[in-house]
Order: sequence, then structure tokens, then C-alpha cells
Amino acid sequence: MNNMRPRSMKRIKTKALAECFIEEQIAAIRAQVGNKKVLLALSGGVDSSVVAALLIKAIGRQLYCVHVNHGLMRKNESENVVKVFGEELDANLIYVDATDRFLDLLAGVSDPESKRKIIGKEFINVFADEARKLDGIEFLAQGTIYPDILESVKQAEGKKAVKSHHNVGGLPEDLQFELVEPIKLLFKDEVRVVGEALGLPHAMVYRQPFPGPGLGVRCLGAITRDRLNALREADAILREEFDQTGLADKVWQFFVVIPDIKSVGVKDDSRYEGWPAIIRAVNTKDAMTASIAKIPYPTLARITDRITAEVPGINRVLYDITPKPTGTIEWE
Ligand code: XMP
Repeated sequence: MNNMRPRSMKRIKTKALAECFIEEQIAAIRAQVGNKKVLLALSGGVDSSVVAALLIKAIGRQLYCVHVNHGLMRKNESENVVKVFGEELDANLIYVDATDRFLDLLAGVSDPESKRKIIGKEFINVFADEARKLDGIEFLAQGTIYPDILESVKQAEGKKAVKSHHNVGGLPEDLQFELVEPIKLLFKDEVRVVGEALGLPHAMVYRQPFPGPGLGVRCLGAITRDRLNALREADAILREEFDQTGLADKVWQFFVVIPDIKSVGVKDDSRYEGWPAIIRAVNTKDAMTASIAKIPYPTLARITDRITAEVPGINRVLYDITPKPTGTIEWE
């Protein structure tokens, strides 16, 4: 398949078009792969999930999915990957809990780009370790989508990025596979339509963007396990409240950030030093600029009550109303 989208290619907006695409890709994958084995890094994001579901339909258990839990996932995210792919879709799923490997390497590291590099590099190491344990893999499936291709074209033209977003670098020399990239000509909205047609759960198909380094770039500065746990719990409360109020379907990206500072507060009549939880909720078309989502005050108040009452270590909640620019969407 060529890397550029033909002008004649229809935008996949309907289930019928998605089903045609799925049939075509199943045939193409079978023709490319034959009876060989394929490896996939399955993060649980919409792109890798759609690729996994497509490949399971096309070649079943010839696909080996590796899910690396780097310890920086949101609450229940890895568990959901195991449930949907390991149990419901009966995939060959290798689940690796690499939390300690990642958190040990990140201990004491506060520079955001260094954190990204450590996470990206260790991800490759863990994935490569798993790949080496498997025999006879010839193909690597990837959830590359069309904006990734366009981004690479831009980078090849020498345009500089503000942050190093590309999470997965190349695999080591001894692990070179032929690539299978069935959704590389699709835009994100098309990937979602295909995901729904494949029967993936709504929450997975409409999952908001989540950075590769995960909560690692939201637990600001040097990551500690206690602050990371507080972040994960606070983020889960925010998501629960957004789901319940219907905001989850209206806001492009929303999450909690916890800085490495404490302030004085009071709890049960005693001095209580804790971290602030910062809520970020933004709308954007392409993530290059972003505006602030207007969250109803009662919702913010309820989220504040819940986070300060339910999450040990947090004594304040702040709402970041900075658009991009001048803020970036993530704090790191
Ligand atoms: P910024 O913070 O640059 O974020 O305004 C724009 C979008 O990119 C996501 N983001 C990342 N995604 N790896 C990723 O895969 C990263 O290192 C990374 N940093 C930011 C961010 O969540 C937002 O959607």
C-alpha cells in the first residue's frame, strides 16, 4: 500500500463504508502475512486497538499482542485491555507489568524531556525482551494513522516540534520485521468508525487522546509512587464525573496534573499539608491550539469535594484556564 492517501479515497463516515474497509483490509492482511506470525504493541488506545481487532478478524491467533503496563496508565486501563482482548476477543495477549522497571529508572528524574526519553527507551526494551521470547515472528503490526504519516513528512522537511511526542523509536537491529499498517491511510474519525464497526467497546473507540508517557508527564517533576497514586485516583474521579454529566463526550481532552509542591490546608481540625490537583479540560481540532472547556461551576465544586475527600494527599483543586498558546495542553 502506498503511503499517500489517493484523492479518490472516500472519507469513511458510515458503518457500510467501514465494513467495506474492514473486508478489504482482512483480504490484504491475509495476502501479506499468509500463515506467519505478527506482533503488535497494544497500548489500549484507539489506533492499536483497532489494528488488533482487525488482525484478530483476519488471522486470529497468529497475532501476538504485547501490552506493556509501564505503571503510568490511568486507573483500570490495563485491566480493560486484558478484559477486552485477552478474555472477550480471545487474543494471544502477553501482559507485562513493568511498573517497577519504569518507576525505578524514573526515580529522581525531573526534566520532562528526559522523562519522555527514559519512558520511550524502556518501552522499547520491555517490548524487545518480549519479542525475543517469541519464536518465528516475521511481521510487526502498527497503529500508524494518516496524521502520523503527514507529521513524518513535515519532520523530514526539517520542522521542529515543541515536545518530543514520538514515543516509540526503532526496534533494535536484531528485531527487524516487515510492517503491517492497515490503518495508515485513515484519519482519526475514520479509525473510530471502523472501531465501532468492529464491535469494540464505545469507551475504547472514543477514548480521549492519552500521551505515550502517560501519567508520567502529569505527575510533574520527579515521579514518586505516592503522588502518582494520588494522581491516578483524582483522574479517575474527574473521568467518572465527566462521564456522569455527559461532558466526556463534549470535551476533547481532560485530565488531572499534580505538581511537586505542597500547601498548607486543614482537615479534621488539624493542619494538613497536601498537593494541589490541577484540572485541565480543553477543546481543539488538531492539538496545535486549544481553548478551555467551560465546565459548569457546580460540576467543578463537586469534583473538588470528591477529590479532596477521597484522595489521600490532596488538599486543593485548581482549574487551569490557560489556552494553548500560551500553555501547552500537557504541563510537561
Ligand atoms: P501539548 O502538550 O504539546 O499536547 O500541547 C498536544 C497533544 O499531544 C499529547 N502529548 C503527547 N502524546 N506523547 C504522546 O503520544 C507525548 O510525549 C505527548 N506529549 C503531549 C497531549 O496529550 C495532547 O493531546
